[in-house]
Amino acid sequence: MPKPTPPEERSRPRPHGETLAVLKSLALSGADQSPVVVTSREIGERIGVSQQAADRYLVALEKRGLVTRSLAQRRQRVALTSAGMALLRAEYRSYHRIFEGPAKISFSGKVASGLGEGRYYLSQPGYVVQFTERLGYAPYPGTLNVRVEGPALRKVELLAAWRGLRIDGFQASGRTFGGATCFPARMNGHPCHLISPDRTHYQDVVEFVAADCLRESLRIHDEDPVRLDIEET
Ligand code: CDP
Repeated sequence: MPKPTPPEERSRPRPHGETLAVLKSLALSGADQSPVVVTSREIGERIGVSQQAADRYLVALEKRGLVTRSLAQRRQRVALTSAGMALLRAEYRSYHRIFEGPAKISFSGKVASGLGEGRYYLSQPGYVVQFTERLGYAPYPGTLNVRVEGPALRKVELLAAWRGLRIDGFQASGRTFGGATCFPARMNGHPCHLISPDRTHYQDVVEFVAADCLRESLRIHDEDPVRLDIEET
């Protein structure tokens, strides 16, 4: 028979901080790579709570799909799931931001022409209103495409985890217009925003919006190299 939980522990909410403390402690002992053998008591000691409380946290983490457990006697094999790692990574990013400031990347690419759809999309009032409100300007109608390759492409992939300025999707004239996330950017030092549509058919192309026509302001043409600096918001 397990010991009954003391009333003060039963009535205590299960704070987010302790969930993270358990995940962090497990990851530090290697449970991010492969299952580790631990007892609730050991976890309790590491995070400063009773064995019973640690046990409850583990049960809750398993229910939320943040860890997997296989039980054997008093010991158990615990591993972090990808959802558990995602939670820890989000926490890490917050600390990174506190101590290092907003994330930044810089890369180079080459100006490219697209399918000419940007002008149509960026002229939609549903987008114009949001851009004006959230980016602070009504964008020049269109997106300037930049083709990137290799290491630059891998840097761009990091953006998926960044915090940016949201542009929401909407319905108009019986059509669905998708959402996007924008990041403050500079192209050859000139202010603009990188726009990352929620759905895109491009693999190696990054799109930019600006208040002005970037081709004219920067005197750039297809295949010209450009330098991009992107910042998290
Ligand atoms: O699909 P594509 O990029 O070719 O065309 P678009 O998005 O309809 O944009 C119209 C033209 O304006 C393209 O040549 C873009 O490169 C250019 N553009 C620009 O120079 N500066 C901007 N801020 C937006 C678009």
